[in-house]
Amino acid sequence: MDRFHIVGGRSLRGTVQVSGSKNAALPILFSTLLGGSLEVDNLPSLRDIRTALSLLSQLGIRAVSLPESPDEEPGSSMPGTSGEASWTGAFRLWEDELASFEAPYDLVRTMRASILCLGPLLAHRKRARVSLPGGCLIGSRPVDMHLNAFAKMGARISIDHGYIDANTDGLVGCDIHLAYPTVTGTENILMAAVLAKGQTRIFNAAQEPEVTDLAWSLIRRGARIEGVGTSTLSVEGVKSLSPGAHSVMWDRIEAGTFLVAGALLGESLTVKGLDPSLLISLMTALSEMGAAFETKGDSVMISRIANPKATSVRTEPYPGFPTDMQAQILPLMAIADGPSTVVETVFENRFTHVMEMNRMGANIDIHGSRAFVRGRSVLEGASVMASDLRASAGLVLAGLLANGETVIQRVYHIDRGYERIEKKLEALGARIKRVREEAAQ
Ligand code: EPZ
Repeated sequence: MDRFHIVGGRSLRGTVQVSGSKNAALPILFSTLLGGSLEVDNLPSLRDIRTALSLLSQLGIRAVSLPESPDEEPGSSMPGTSGEASWTGAFRLWEDELASFEAPYDLVRTMRASILCLGPLLAHRKRARVSLPGGCLIGSRPVDMHLNAFAKMGARISIDHGYIDANTDGLVGCDIHLAYPTVTGTENILMAAVLAKGQTRIFNAAQEPEVTDLAWSLIRRGARIEGVGTSTLSVEGVKSLSPGAHSVMWDRIEAGTFLVAGALLGESLTVKGLDPSLLISLMTALSEMGAAFETKGDSVMISRIANPKATSVRTEPYPGFPTDMQAQILPLMAIADGPSTVVETVFENRFTHVMEMNRMGANIDIHGSRAFVRGRSVLEGASVMASDLRASAGLVLAGLLANGETVIQRVYHIDRGYERIEKKLEALGARIKRVREEAAQ
């Protein structure tokens, strides 16, 4: 297991380019199970994207990587095995055979988002067998809202030996009222509705920009969707999708992570390739803490906040403050001039990073879903353990800020969702290196 060695305290300057969004790319990749073909680019080179390509390959979706320049020949690389060097971020995917319909435990347990194959498989192949994703460290994360919606649309669903077994004679559109605006739930139902008979309306739909990106990628292939970007999606089913192309949106959480890095250590740090209007809740919290932004087109420049002020955030569905950003803002709160609070409303156990940050000198108490951050701490480097993707990003930021050396174990978590983070940070002036397992022994 690789680890990061970080020597903290270095300023960050220069420009960092934001990569394509993992959480937009995943549903778009799984939407190829609806049939037709898709040319997709701006896919980030991440472990979760390779897992998705590998699952799709088992489900009969073929993929070839496309060259960066249109003059070159398409590659013959098998999906999921392309190395970093050959990764262009662009693939053509198409359905090659329809016989398989099973997402096995071994893949689903490494990536819960595999549940996103359920809706398209049911809609197009009328049968799906998907390993039931278990809980994970951040919460129990049931998928009841996905299953209830599919049942209402006419699927017969049973749970059998840890698998969701579902089949249908053909999905039929209906009104779905979500009890909570679940992100992957909305995406799964949206994909199923695209080929269902008649109209489906999804009320209290998630409004995350990644849901919107999926909707546009489907519309480009002939799907009939209205209300994109709102909490009510209305879908008129079509018989089949046509070939299409889509460029995956930028990663909001990666961009946000670099903005917080800038607030901690930036010297005119520019984060490029984003749309600031989709980061308002984060930028508002950073402004309250004293950050000043200079926005030009798709770039935002930010510098270190000399004396960060305390603030409070409450995680909520979009457009609220993202749960995927609370671990990263905690180091800034730890050094702020007074007490700050984070209320986590989305997941029930998303503070695993706090104990590790406290070992670095932060003073944070957890009471249920609230983290009380005392402030005025001086962070010291330490050996810490990454426990999930965003927790790891929070620890990397704490390590960049801390005095002395921080060693972060289990960075495979961060490789799921941040493309070459250590290379990007190094280019900005950070002292961070990856120590490979073999070298570490
Ligand atoms: C998506 O997860 C993201 N994953 C998560 O990003 C993100 O943290 C989360 O949305 C919230 O923004 C992907 O997009 C692949 P939810 P998802 O369904 O869809 C409960 C990251 O670090 N719920 O919106 O799984 C659930 O338990 C990841 O990139 C039910 O009770 O989140 C949770 O408490 C982590 N029943 C809440 O809703 C259901 O059927 C929100 O979950 C579905 C969800």
